[in-house]
Amino acid sequence: MTDLTRADAAALADAGKAAQAKYDDLRGRNLALDMTRGKPSAEQLNLSDGLLTNLSAEEVRDADGTDVRNYGGLAGIPEARALFGAYLGVPADQVVIGGNSSLQMMYGALSRAMTFGVVGGDGPWRGQDPVVICPVPGYDRHFAVCEELGLKMVTVEMADDGPDMDAVEALVADNPAVKAIWCVPKYSNPTGATYSQEVSERLAKMPTAAPDFRIFWDNAYAVHHLGAGLDEVADILDLCTKAGHPDRPFVFGSTSKITYAGAGIAMFAGSPANVKDALDHLFFETIGPDKITQMRQVKFFRDLDGVKKHMDAHAALVAPKFAAVDGALERHLGGKGIATWTRPKGGYFVSLDVLDGCARRVIELAGQAGVKLTPAGSCYPYGDDPRDRNIRLAPTLPPLDEVKQAMEVVCAAVEVACLERLTQG
Ligand SMILES: Cc1ncc(COP(=O)(O)O)c(C=O)c1O
Repeated sequence: MTDLTRADAAALADAGKAAQAKYDDLRGRNLALDMTRGKPSAEQLNLSDGLLTNLSAEEVRDADGTDVRNYGGLAGIPEARALFGAYLGVPADQVVIGGNSSLQMMYGALSRAMTFGVVGGDGPWRGQDPVVICPVPGYDRHFAVCEELGLKMVTVEMADDGPDMDAVEALVADNPAVKAIWCVPKYSNPTGATYSQEVSERLAKMPTAAPDFRIFWDNAYAVHHLGAGLDEVADILDLCTKAGHPDRPFVFGSTSKITYAGAGIAMFAGSPANVKDALDHLFFETIGPDKITQMRQVKFFRDLDGVKKHMDAHAALVAPKFAAVDGALERHLGGKGIATWTRPKGGYFVSLDVLDGCARRVIELAGQAGVKLTPAGSCYPYGDDPRDRNIRLAPTLPPLDEVKQAMEVVCAAVEVACLERLTQG
């Protein structure tokens, strides 16, 4: 395959014509495909339909004897705290089971930090010009929460083993306004990278000018492998405790992409002091979570092995779609010097980097040919990808044959856009 970045003008002109012809042909097919959001497919949702019928009137008391149909149980039912404590690798009493969304719990945690401050801090973050470190590319909704609440964002680059820790350590060292970092430690959104033990240790140990620095450890994809087994990720609570910073991590997770998206359960874990602080505030927000859903989820899985087996079934459905994405990228763009992409072993996304200055154009071209992609810059704070090169691909939702068709369009759009750029010099 010719490296187009080294081709001469004549070769570029030929390649440009061929790419345009391929693109025009695909455009003529009037496709209407969507690769924008990381949602489970209908087949994945079907795997959890046992949840719709698995609770009878005889089973409405939790392990403490509380009737799950009634108010109460702010921290969640004991069996859900035990199961999802095991899931997050923490004791049951260090877990709060929330409602249907971990994003809401993250928003709540950050919002409370702004309004009241956090354990070990010196008051509300609002007024201290708080700054959050955002590894990029990252999860657009994390950035949107910061924007909504008025936290300034600074970026650091994501590598294959986590964020650039030299940059992170430099940012936290002398500026007490740097209060937090977003982390998706396993099968990160969107690159699929899993944090190494070394990166996790550095996060736990690093001296921070802010006494109340927080790691927002969003373990959204803890069990979401693609068939080759699970990556290991460090126990951040344990590492931070050993490093003398027990209150540093806020850990989050949910069953949104295990059972039903937006109709599962979310969880928060932290040090005993952080859990107490969260509950003290949650008391004013709700009389208690939906314990019926919690009970259903626990009965559905029984134990952690049940969760893992269930995720093997997800992997069987999802892996062929990721293979189709990688196959198309390799076939059409491999060796051409115009694109690189990630080959995740889990999670929901593939992160595609094209030549600088081309991502917006690729997305425009794909859209004109009937393939909707996540808007350019989505994986960056304020929607600003400074190199205009990153594209997030989300292959889980469409059926396999649609993923294949969409990828033909994506690859053709990449070729056309990058050749336009190369021929313009
Ligand atoms: C990294 C990450 N965290 C959180 C969420 C949302 O989770 P929930 O449905 O629990 O709010 C997503 C969904 O895409 C995600 O990618």
